[in-house]
Amino acid sequence: LPFLVAALIFGYLLGSIPFGLIITRAAGLGDVRKIGSGNIGATNVLRTGNKKLAALTLLLDALKGTAAVLLAGMYGPDQAIAAGLGAFLGHLFPVWLGFRGGKGVATYLGVLLGLAWPGALIFAVVWLAVAFATRYSSLSALVAAIAVPAGLFWLGHVQAAQLFVLMSVIVFIKHRANISRLLAGTETRIGGKG
Ligand code: G3P
Repeated sequence: LPFLVAALIFGYLLGSIPFGLIITRAAGLGDVRKIGSGNIGATNVLRTGNKKLAALTLLLDALKGTAAVLLAGMYGPDQAIAAGLGAFLGHLFPVWLGFRGGKGVATYLGVLLGLAWPGALIFAVVWLAVAFATRYSSLSALVAAIAVPAGLFWLGHVQAAQLFVLMSVIVFIKHRANISRLLAGTETRIGGKG
């Protein structure tokens, strides 16, 4: 058990690095929390108009989740899961930002890649299909967050599926403002400034 707690804390510390905020600040774009949705994720970094920084944010926010899983996974599968959950929670509730972090979509994907890569494939296909059809980043993430646990159960990755049920519920809760905007027809589309 101490090992599991250590893995959770290790994952949390990696996950709590707010790459979107760090990258946009370093690029002299100011505080990304003051534009668009106010989120620190890649979708909102894209609203600065800088596609490369948005892609970099997506990559690093995802890879911190993958790294947490793979490194802790050297001590066993349960440690991998604990670190993955830790990284996701670290991104959402970083102590450095007064526990006001991101919505967790990129980190969810990165943890998935490390724990059960076929799930990441499902995520990517569903996200891209919905994004292509609707150009809503939030809706794409929400539909993918339903498809992933279902797909993992279907593929027999039961333990991972249970973790991703929990993480998907949290993703939905974190997207409540987006869900309201989607229902009201006021959500910003990818490429829109909002
Ligand atoms: O990944 C977060 C995305 O689903 C929504 O981001 O900035 O539009 O709230 P945002």
